Formats: sequence, structure tokens, C-alpha cells
Amino acid sequence: MINVNKLKKVKSNFPVMVGKGAISKKDCEKLIDEIRNAKSFDDLIQGGRNRINKGSSNFKNYLKKSKLSNKLYKQFNSQSFYKKVENRFKKTFKDYGWSNAYLPSKFLREKFTNKKLMNSKELMKMLGKTYKNPNVNLDIDFSVSRGGYRLRPHRDDVTRLYNFLIYLNDIPKKNGGALSIFKKKTDMKYRKSFKRFPGISELAKVKEFTPSKGSVIFFQSTPNSYHGVSLFREIKGKKRFFIYGSYALSKPVVWRYKNVSYLPKIKKTNKRMLTSSHDSDYLMREVG
Ligand SMILES: [Fe+2]
Repeated sequence: MINVNKLKKVKSNFPVMVGKGAISKKDCEKLIDEIRNAKSFDDLIQGGRNRINKGSSNFKNYLKKSKLSNKLYKQFNSQSFYKKVENRFKKTFKDYGWSNAYLPSKFLREKFTNKKLMNSKELMKMLGKTYKNPNVNLDIDFSVSRGGYRLRPHRDDVTRLYNFLIYLNDIPKKNGGALSIFKKKTDMKYRKSFKRFPGISELAKVKEFTPSKGSVIFFQSTPNSYHGVSLFREIKGKKRFFIYGSYALSKPVVWRYKNVSYLPKIKKTNKRMLTSSHDSDYLMREVG
């Protein structure tokens, strides 16, 4: 359904590619109808985003009834498509210097990121002690947001390699809900640490993408891949329909920038949260 070779490189401080009209308008309409007709959603997060998540029984039922969603899922949930995405990034961003230190050996079609609430101890146990020899899997959700949805600037989960967004409807600028790309005001790739949630005053906006029907954004989830969504206002009942996905390792990604490695450190907390809410820093490995 999506041709990764048609994606275009965006001028940014980390690897980002976009495709306008990557999905036909007709297909977008069908996908919206499928999400709209969903019997139930798995969760409600980020102030107004309803999701159907890979891994739930609800997701399986949804795919049974939703022909086009199932087709799209099958395309993304394959080793061959993952390889296409990876190769496209490697070729397009050779000079950017970021890569993952440990390449995954197997593509696991059934695996997905746990959506249970965990404290940091439980999360660290799940992630394991060694970061070597990871496997890779697709995570994906079918989403619809209502007014109130927003996402403060952040970097994604420590297991993410590549993330992608598929927008199914046009969102007028005045409705908000745009995806912004940020960089640190002092955009150095060699730094002691990359916070997961930098303060807004530490960041400068690089680019803003207003969701348009059939457009897609792919980006590499490097330690500096800061992005967020501005407050979405629901005007005349217009919701924001989209699909979010990523290729994630079974272990945290060790990122390399040229000759330097960055390892993630999860912040300790007793609060039980989704993996996507846990704070973590990417720390430069001291070379002794
Ligand atoms: Fe994100």
C-alpha cells in the first residue's frame, strides 16, 4: 500500500521522511470508516486519543472486520517491509551518523510492546540486562483523537528504531493537532545525556506538519528525535484519524553516533505507567 521509495527526505536534525498522498483518498475514507465502526478501543491516552493496539484481542476482532486495516497491517508486519524501511533510511541518511549498535536477528510477527502499567523496576526487568542480540517487531495502533489530545515534546520508547505516522484526514490549521519536530537549542550530537522529556524552553521548533489525508511521516527514533503534537481542538465534531506504528527491538536500542555509544537509563519510580510514559535518559558511554 505504501511505497517507501517515494518518501522524501526532510531537512531536519535527525532522519525524517515524508510522503504526500502516500495512501489514496479513497483508501483513507475506507480506513476512517473502519476505525469509526470499531466496536471498542483499548485505551484513551494523551488527553483524548483512543487506540486499538496490536496485541489485544480487540485488535484481532477489529482486523477481522476491517479489510483495509488488515491489508495495511500485513504489509507493515513483515520482515520484507521492515527491511525496505531500514534500507531506505540507511541509504538516505548515510551522512547523519546515527545507527543502532546491535542489529536484530529475527523479525517476530506476533510480538508487541506490552501495554500494561509498570513501575520502573518491572520495566527494567522486562527490558533485560543485556542489550545484545535483539529481535525486532512491529508495534501499531489505529487511533482517533478528540478535542484535548496533545503530546508534549518527547523522544519515543527506548526500544524504538523507526516510527511512522499515517494521517487519514485533513486537519485545518486552526484546529491544531499538528506534529512538530524539535531540536535542542544547542543541537550537539556529542552530549553527555539526551533527556526523554526536555523542557520546552530548551527546544526550538524545526518543522511543523499539518495532518493531510494520505500523508505519512517516517522518522528514526534517535536519542535526539524530539517531537510533539500541539493541542487538538475538535471543531464541528471533526476528529483526528491516524495510524501510528514503529519497528521496535525486544531490548533497548544502543545508539551509536559515529564512534560514540549511547545507552538508556530508566528513571526510578514506583508509579505504574505505560512504557511510553516512563522517563529515561540516553547517556554517553564513557570510554575508559
Ligand atoms: Fe512519539
